[in-house]
Amino acid sequence: MDDIKTRDSKTRDSKTRDSKTRDPKTRDPRGEVQDDDAAIALMDHPDSTEEIPTLDIAPYLEGRPGGREAVAARLREITMTVGFFYLRNHGIPQDLIDGAFEQNRRIHGLPDSEKRKMPWTNRDGSNVGYQGYHEDGDYKPQSNVNIVAHTKPNYYAKFNIIHESPGQPAKNLWPETLPGFQDRLLAYYRAIEKLAMSFLPLWCVSLKLPVDYFDRSFENPHLLLSLLHYPPQKEIGNRQYGIAPHTDNAMMTFLAQADIPGLAVQMPSGHWRAVDIVPGTLLINTGNSLVRWTNEDYLSTKHRVINTKGVDRYSIPVFFGPNNETVVEVLPTCQSPTKPPLYEPISYGDLRGWYYGRDAK
Ligand SMILES: [Fe+2]
Repeated sequence: MDDIKTRDSKTRDSKTRDSKTRDPKTRDPRGEVQDDDAAIALMDHPDSTEEIPTLDIAPYLEGRPGGREAVAARLREITMTVGFFYLRNHGIPQDLIDGAFEQNRRIHGLPDSEKRKMPWTNRDGSNVGYQGYHEDGDYKPQSNVNIVAHTKPNYYAKFNIIHESPGQPAKNLWPETLPGFQDRLLAYYRAIEKLAMSFLPLWCVSLKLPVDYFDRSFENPHLLLSLLHYPPQKEIGNRQYGIAPHTDNAMMTFLAQADIPGLAVQMPSGHWRAVDIVPGTLLINTGNSLVRWTNEDYLSTKHRVINTKGVDRYSIPVFFGPNNETVVEVLPTCQSPTKPPLYEPISYGDLRGWYYGRDAK
Protein backbone atom coordinates (compact mmCIF):
# COMPACT_ATOMS: atom_id res chain seq x y z
CA MET A 1 0.00 0.00 0.00
CA ASP A 2 3.09 2.17 -0.25
CA ASP A 3 1.84 4.33 -3.05
CA ILE A 4 -1.48 5.12 -1.40
CA LYS A 5 -1.40 8.77 -0.51
CA THR A 6 -2.82 8.59 2.98
CA ARG A 7 -2.07 12.19 3.72
CA ASP A 8 -3.66 13.31 0.46
CA SER A 9 -6.68 11.23 1.29
CA LYS A 10 -7.13 12.84 4.64
CA THR A 11 -6.56 16.27 3.17
CA ARG A 12 -9.06 15.67 0.41
CA ASP A 13 -11.60 14.16 2.68
CA SER A 14 -11.49 16.67 5.48
CA LYS A 15 -11.53 19.49 2.97
CA THR A 16 -14.43 18.18 0.95
CA ARG A 17 -16.48 16.96 3.88
CA ASP A 18 -15.91 20.12 5.90
CA SER A 19 -17.10 22.18 2.98
CA LYS A 20 -20.48 20.58 3.66
CA THR A 21 -22.75 21.18 6.57
CA ARG A 22 -21.68 20.08 10.02
CA ASP A 23 -25.33 19.97 11.06
CA PRO A 24 -25.84 16.34 12.14
CA LYS A 25 -29.43 16.47 10.92
CA THR A 26 -28.49 17.18 7.32
CA ARG A 27 -24.89 16.07 6.83
CA ASP A 28 -24.39 13.87 3.76
CA PRO A 29 -22.37 10.66 4.31
CA ARG A 30 -21.36 10.61 0.63
CA GLY A 31 -18.96 13.51 1.16
CA GLU A 32 -18.68 16.08 -1.55
CA VAL A 33 -21.14 15.65 -4.38
CA GLN A 34 -19.65 17.40 -7.38
CA ASP A 35 -20.63 16.89 -11.01
CA ASP A 36 -19.25 19.81 -12.97
CA ASP A 37 -17.57 19.08 -16.30
CA ALA A 38 -14.12 18.66 -14.73
CA ALA A 39 -15.44 16.16 -12.16
CA ILE A 40 -17.30 14.22 -14.86
CA ALA A 41 -14.17 14.08 -17.01
CA LEU A 42 -12.27 12.47 -14.12
CA MET A 43 -15.03 9.89 -13.58
CA ASP A 44 -15.33 9.05 -17.26
CA HIS A 45 -11.59 8.83 -17.97
CA PRO A 46 -9.88 6.98 -15.12
CA ASP A 47 -6.19 7.89 -15.07
CA SER A 48 -5.08 6.92 -11.56
CA THR A 49 -2.41 4.27 -11.04
CA GLU A 50 -2.83 4.26 -7.25
CA GLU A 51 -3.07 0.79 -5.77
CA ILE A 52 -6.32 -0.92 -4.85
CA PRO A 53 -5.14 -2.87 -1.80
CA THR A 54 -5.54 -6.57 -1.08
CA LEU A 55 -6.74 -8.06 2.19
CA ASP A 56 -5.68 -11.65 2.86
CA ILE A 57 -8.28 -12.95 5.29
CA ALA A 58 -6.74 -16.42 5.75
CA PRO A 59 -4.99 -15.65 9.07
CA TYR A 60 -8.42 -14.86 10.54
CA LEU A 61 -10.55 -17.54 8.87
CA GLU A 62 -7.98 -20.22 9.70
CA GLY A 63 -7.87 -19.12 13.33
CA ARG A 64 -4.14 -18.44 13.43
CA PRO A 65 -2.88 -16.86 16.67
CA GLY A 66 -3.18 -13.09 16.35
CA GLY A 67 -4.81 -13.50 12.96
CA ARG A 68 -8.03 -11.69 13.84
CA GLU A 69 -6.21 -8.67 15.22
CA ALA A 70 -3.80 -8.47 12.29
CA VAL A 71 -6.55 -8.74 9.67
CA ALA A 72 -8.71 -6.21 11.55
CA ALA A 73 -5.83 -3.72 11.66
CA ARG A 74 -5.28 -4.07 7.91
CA LEU A 75 -9.03 -3.76 7.30
CA ARG A 76 -9.08 -0.53 9.30
CA GLU A 77 -6.12 0.91 7.40
CA ILE A 78 -7.73 0.10 4.03
CA THR A 79 -11.16 1.40 4.99
CA MET A 80 -9.73 4.70 6.22
CA THR A 81 -7.76 5.33 3.05
CA VAL A 82 -9.29 3.66 -0.03
CA GLY A 83 -12.56 1.94 0.94
CA PHE A 84 -12.14 -0.73 -1.78
CA PHE A 85 -10.05 -3.88 -1.61
CA TYR A 86 -9.49 -7.27 -3.16
CA LEU A 87 -10.31 -10.06 -0.71
CA ARG A 88 -7.96 -13.01 -1.04
CA ASN A 89 -8.43 -16.50 0.49
CA HIS A 90 -12.12 -15.81 1.14
CA GLY A 91 -12.94 -19.51 1.16
CA ILE A 92 -15.78 -19.40 -1.40
CA PRO A 93 -15.25 -22.27 -3.85
CA GLN A 94 -14.70 -21.13 -7.43
CA ASP A 95 -17.39 -23.51 -8.68
CA LEU A 96 -20.00 -21.64 -6.60
CA ILE A 97 -18.89 -18.35 -8.16
CA ASP A 98 -18.86 -19.88 -11.65
CA GLY A 99 -22.32 -21.36 -10.99
CA ALA A 100 -23.70 -17.96 -10.01
CA PHE A 101 -22.35 -16.41 -13.20
CA GLU A 102 -23.86 -19.23 -15.22
CA GLN A 103 -27.27 -18.40 -13.66
CA ASN A 104 -26.66 -14.72 -14.40
CA ARG A 105 -26.27 -15.45 -18.10
CA ARG A 106 -29.23 -17.83 -18.10
CA ILE A 107 -31.71 -15.44 -16.54
CA HIS A 108 -30.76 -12.48 -18.71
CA GLY A 109 -30.99 -14.72 -21.75
CA LEU A 110 -34.63 -15.64 -21.07
CA PRO A 111 -37.36 -14.43 -23.43
CA ASP A 112 -39.05 -11.21 -22.30
CA SER A 113 -42.27 -13.15 -21.73
CA GLU A 114 -40.54 -15.25 -19.05
CA LYS A 115 -38.82 -12.27 -17.43
CA ARG A 116 -42.15 -10.46 -17.15
CA LYS A 117 -43.43 -13.28 -14.96
CA MET A 118 -41.02 -12.01 -12.26
CA PRO A 119 -41.89 -8.30 -12.19
CA TRP A 120 -39.78 -5.86 -10.15
CA THR A 121 -41.55 -5.99 -6.78
CA ASN A 122 -40.96 -4.19 -3.49
CA ARG A 123 -40.77 -6.52 -0.49
CA ASP A 124 -40.09 -4.87 2.89
CA GLY A 125 -38.29 -1.94 1.26
CA SER A 126 -36.15 -4.07 -1.08
CA ASN A 127 -36.86 -4.89 -4.69
CA VAL A 128 -36.89 -8.47 -5.91
CA GLY A 129 -37.43 -9.97 -9.34
CA TYR A 130 -36.38 -8.69 -12.71
CA GLN A 131 -35.78 -5.09 -13.77
CA GLY A 132 -35.35 -4.61 -17.50
CA TYR A 133 -33.02 -2.50 -19.60
CA HIS A 134 -33.63 1.23 -19.86
CA GLU A 135 -35.76 1.28 -16.75
CA ASP A 136 -34.23 3.05 -13.78
CA GLY A 137 -35.59 1.74 -10.54
CA ASP A 138 -32.97 3.32 -8.28
CA TYR A 139 -32.63 6.82 -9.58
CA LYS A 140 -35.35 9.32 -8.95
CA PRO A 141 -34.81 13.08 -8.92
CA GLN A 142 -35.29 13.12 -5.15
CA SER A 143 -33.05 10.14 -4.43
CA ASN A 144 -29.53 10.22 -3.00
CA VAL A 145 -28.11 7.32 -5.00
CA ASN A 146 -26.39 9.08 -7.89
CA ILE A 147 -23.79 11.76 -7.34
CA VAL A 148 -24.21 13.05 -10.89
CA ALA A 149 -27.36 14.93 -11.83
CA HIS A 150 -29.29 14.42 -15.06
CA THR A 151 -27.75 11.07 -15.93
CA LYS A 152 -29.37 8.85 -18.51
CA PRO A 153 -30.97 5.71 -17.08
CA ASN A 154 -28.43 3.12 -16.02
CA TYR A 155 -27.74 0.86 -19.01
CA TYR A 156 -28.21 -2.52 -17.40
CA ALA A 157 -30.75 -5.09 -16.35
CA LYS A 158 -30.85 -6.91 -13.04
CA PHE A 159 -32.43 -9.73 -11.08
CA ASN A 160 -32.51 -9.43 -7.28
CA ILE A 161 -32.98 -11.83 -4.42
CA ILE A 162 -33.11 -10.90 -0.73
CA HIS A 163 -32.85 -12.58 2.65
CA GLU A 164 -35.72 -14.83 3.72
CA SER A 165 -36.11 -15.87 7.33
CA PRO A 166 -37.22 -19.38 8.30
CA GLY A 167 -40.93 -19.45 9.12
CA GLN A 168 -41.61 -16.17 7.32
CA PRO A 169 -43.50 -15.83 4.02
CA ALA A 170 -41.35 -16.21 0.89
CA LYS A 171 -40.25 -12.92 -0.68
CA ASN A 172 -38.22 -13.88 -3.72
CA LEU A 173 -39.51 -14.52 -7.23
CA TRP A 174 -37.97 -17.37 -9.22
CA PRO A 175 -38.00 -18.34 -12.90
CA GLU A 176 -40.23 -21.29 -13.81
CA THR A 177 -38.18 -22.47 -16.76
CA LEU A 178 -34.61 -22.64 -15.45
CA PRO A 179 -34.03 -25.93 -13.63
CA GLY A 180 -31.33 -25.66 -10.97
CA PHE A 181 -31.32 -21.85 -11.03
CA GLN A 182 -32.65 -21.36 -7.51
CA ASP A 183 -30.42 -24.01 -5.92
CA ARG A 184 -27.21 -22.79 -7.56
CA LEU A 185 -27.92 -19.15 -6.78
CA LEU A 186 -28.90 -19.83 -3.18
CA ALA A 187 -25.73 -21.88 -2.67
CA TYR A 188 -23.66 -18.83 -3.62
CA TYR A 189 -25.89 -16.51 -1.60
CA ARG A 190 -25.48 -18.62 1.55
CA ALA A 191 -21.71 -18.77 1.10
CA ILE A 192 -21.52 -14.98 0.85
CA GLU A 193 -23.84 -14.64 3.86
CA LYS A 194 -21.48 -16.77 5.94
CA LEU A 195 -18.47 -14.76 4.79
CA ALA A 196 -20.27 -11.47 5.42
CA MET A 197 -21.23 -12.49 8.95
CA SER A 198 -17.62 -13.46 9.62
CA PHE A 199 -16.67 -9.81 9.01
CA LEU A 200 -18.68 -8.56 11.99
CA PRO A 201 -16.04 -9.47 14.62
CA LEU A 202 -13.37 -7.96 12.37
CA TRP A 203 -15.21 -4.65 12.23
CA CYS A 204 -15.63 -4.75 16.02
CA VAL A 205 -11.94 -5.40 16.64
CA SER A 206 -10.98 -2.72 14.12
CA LEU A 207 -13.15 -0.24 16.03
CA LYS A 208 -12.10 -1.32 19.54
CA LEU A 209 -15.64 -2.56 20.32
CA PRO A 210 -16.66 -5.77 22.12
CA VAL A 211 -16.36 -8.53 19.59
CA ASP A 212 -20.11 -9.27 19.60
CA TYR A 213 -21.17 -5.60 19.40
CA PHE A 214 -22.94 -5.92 16.02
CA ASP A 215 -24.45 -9.39 16.52
CA ARG A 216 -27.97 -8.35 17.52
CA SER A 217 -28.14 -5.84 14.67
CA PHE A 218 -27.56 -8.60 12.13
CA GLU A 219 -29.95 -11.30 13.37
CA ASN A 220 -32.09 -10.71 10.29
CA PRO A 221 -29.58 -9.00 8.01
CA HIS A 222 -30.22 -7.05 4.87
CA LEU A 223 -28.48 -9.19 2.29
CA LEU A 224 -29.39 -8.42 -1.31
CA LEU A 225 -27.87 -10.20 -4.30
CA SER A 226 -28.10 -8.68 -7.78
CA LEU A 227 -27.41 -10.50 -11.02
CA LEU A 228 -26.34 -7.62 -13.27
CA HIS A 229 -26.06 -7.60 -17.06
CA TYR A 230 -24.49 -4.64 -18.85
CA PRO A 231 -25.04 -4.84 -22.61
CA PRO A 232 -22.50 -3.09 -24.84
CA GLN A 233 -23.13 0.65 -24.55
CA LYS A 234 -24.21 2.37 -27.74
CA GLU A 235 -23.23 5.70 -26.27
CA ILE A 236 -20.13 6.47 -24.18
CA GLY A 237 -20.07 9.80 -22.36
CA ASN A 238 -22.91 12.34 -22.29
CA ARG A 239 -23.81 11.13 -18.77
CA GLN A 240 -24.58 7.62 -20.02
CA TYR A 241 -23.36 4.96 -17.62
CA GLY A 242 -23.83 1.28 -16.94
CA ILE A 243 -24.23 2.37 -13.33
CA ALA A 244 -23.91 6.09 -12.70
CA PRO A 245 -21.35 7.32 -10.14
CA HIS A 246 -22.55 6.65 -6.60
CA THR A 247 -21.60 5.42 -3.16
CA ASP A 248 -23.07 2.23 -1.76
CA ASN A 249 -25.36 2.55 1.22
CA ALA A 250 -25.16 -0.72 3.14
CA MET A 251 -22.36 -1.69 5.51
CA MET A 252 -20.31 -3.44 2.83
CA THR A 253 -20.58 -4.90 -0.68
CA PHE A 254 -19.13 -8.19 -1.96
CA LEU A 255 -18.62 -8.03 -5.72
CA ALA A 256 -17.82 -10.92 -8.03
CA GLN A 257 -16.72 -9.78 -11.48
CA ALA A 258 -16.53 -11.95 -14.57
CA ASP A 259 -13.94 -11.31 -17.24
CA ILE A 260 -14.94 -7.90 -18.61
CA PRO A 261 -13.72 -4.74 -16.83
CA GLY A 262 -15.74 -1.52 -16.66
CA LEU A 263 -15.77 -0.53 -12.99
CA ALA A 264 -13.81 2.51 -11.83
CA VAL A 265 -13.41 3.93 -8.33
CA GLN A 266 -12.31 7.29 -6.95
CA MET A 267 -8.88 6.99 -5.34
CA PRO A 268 -7.33 9.05 -2.53
CA SER A 269 -5.88 11.59 -4.97
CA GLY A 270 -9.39 12.36 -6.25
CA HIS A 271 -8.58 10.76 -9.62
CA TRP A 272 -10.38 7.60 -10.67
CA ARG A 273 -8.88 4.18 -11.23
CA ALA A 274 -10.08 1.45 -13.62
CA VAL A 275 -10.49 -1.72 -11.56
CA ASP A 276 -8.51 -4.71 -12.76
CA ILE A 277 -10.10 -8.13 -12.53
CA VAL A 278 -7.96 -10.27 -10.22
CA PRO A 279 -8.84 -13.98 -10.46
CA GLY A 280 -9.51 -15.72 -7.16
CA THR A 281 -10.49 -12.54 -5.33
CA LEU A 282 -13.72 -10.77 -4.50
CA LEU A 283 -13.84 -6.99 -4.62
CA ILE A 284 -15.15 -5.46 -1.40
CA ASN A 285 -16.19 -1.90 -0.63
CA THR A 286 -17.79 -0.13 2.29
CA GLY A 287 -20.92 2.02 2.34
CA ASN A 288 -22.67 5.01 3.85
CA SER A 289 -23.79 3.05 6.93
CA LEU A 290 -20.19 2.64 8.05
CA VAL A 291 -19.48 6.32 7.39
CA ARG A 292 -22.26 7.23 9.80
CA TRP A 293 -21.40 4.55 12.37
CA THR A 294 -17.73 5.59 12.43
CA ASN A 295 -18.24 9.37 12.39
CA GLU A 296 -16.45 9.45 9.01
CA ASP A 297 -13.38 7.50 10.14
CA TYR A 298 -14.29 4.94 7.45
CA LEU A 299 -15.09 5.71 3.82
CA SER A 300 -17.86 5.01 1.33
CA THR A 301 -15.93 5.43 -1.87
CA LYS A 302 -17.48 6.67 -5.11
CA HIS A 303 -17.57 4.32 -8.09
CA ARG A 304 -19.28 3.80 -11.45
CA VAL A 305 -19.50 1.37 -14.41
CA ILE A 306 -19.12 2.09 -18.12
CA ASN A 307 -19.06 -0.89 -20.46
CA THR A 308 -16.73 0.24 -23.25
CA LYS A 309 -15.82 -3.24 -24.45
CA GLY A 310 -18.53 -3.89 -27.01
CA VAL A 311 -19.46 -7.21 -25.38
CA ASP A 312 -21.84 -8.28 -22.62
CA ARG A 313 -20.58 -7.63 -19.10
CA TYR A 314 -21.85 -9.52 -16.04
CA SER A 315 -21.24 -8.88 -12.36
CA ILE A 316 -22.76 -10.02 -9.06
CA PRO A 317 -22.79 -7.64 -6.11
CA VAL A 318 -24.14 -8.65 -2.71
CA PHE A 319 -25.05 -5.79 -0.38
CA PHE A 320 -24.81 -6.49 3.36
CA GLY A 321 -26.41 -4.37 6.07
CA PRO A 322 -28.14 -4.74 9.43
CA ASN A 323 -31.79 -5.34 10.36
CA ASN A 324 -34.04 -2.52 9.13
CA GLU A 325 -34.82 -1.58 12.75
CA THR A 326 -31.16 -1.19 13.74
CA VAL A 327 -30.34 2.35 14.79
CA VAL A 328 -27.21 3.47 13.01
CA GLU A 329 -25.62 5.94 15.42
CA VAL A 330 -22.07 7.11 15.90
CA LEU A 331 -20.20 4.38 17.76
CA PRO A 332 -18.90 5.12 21.25
CA THR A 333 -15.31 4.56 20.13
CA CYS A 334 -15.62 7.01 17.23
CA GLN A 335 -16.57 10.12 19.19
CA SER A 336 -15.06 12.28 21.89
CA PRO A 337 -15.53 15.79 23.33
CA THR A 338 -13.29 17.08 20.56
CA LYS A 339 -14.99 14.94 17.90
CA PRO A 340 -18.72 15.04 18.57
CA PRO A 341 -21.12 13.01 16.41
CA LEU A 342 -21.47 14.37 12.90
CA TYR A 343 -24.72 12.44 12.41
CA GLU A 344 -27.91 11.94 14.33
CA PRO A 345 -29.07 8.37 14.97
CA ILE A 346 -31.20 6.95 12.14
CA SER A 347 -32.75 3.53 11.62
CA TYR A 348 -31.23 1.51 8.80
CA GLY A 349 -34.68 1.41 7.18
CA ASP A 350 -34.88 5.21 7.21
CA LEU A 351 -31.33 5.49 5.91
CA ARG A 352 -32.37 3.32 2.99
CA GLY A 353 -35.41 5.55 2.52
CA TRP A 354 -33.16 8.61 2.35
CA TYR A 355 -30.88 6.89 -0.17
CA TYR A 356 -33.61 5.69 -2.52
CA GLY A 357 -35.77 8.78 -2.21
CA ARG A 358 -38.84 7.14 -0.79
CA ASP A 359 -40.46 6.64 2.55
CA ALA A 360 -38.88 3.86 4.53
CA LYS A 361 -40.89 0.67 4.78
FE1 LIG B 1 -22.15 0.35 -6.09
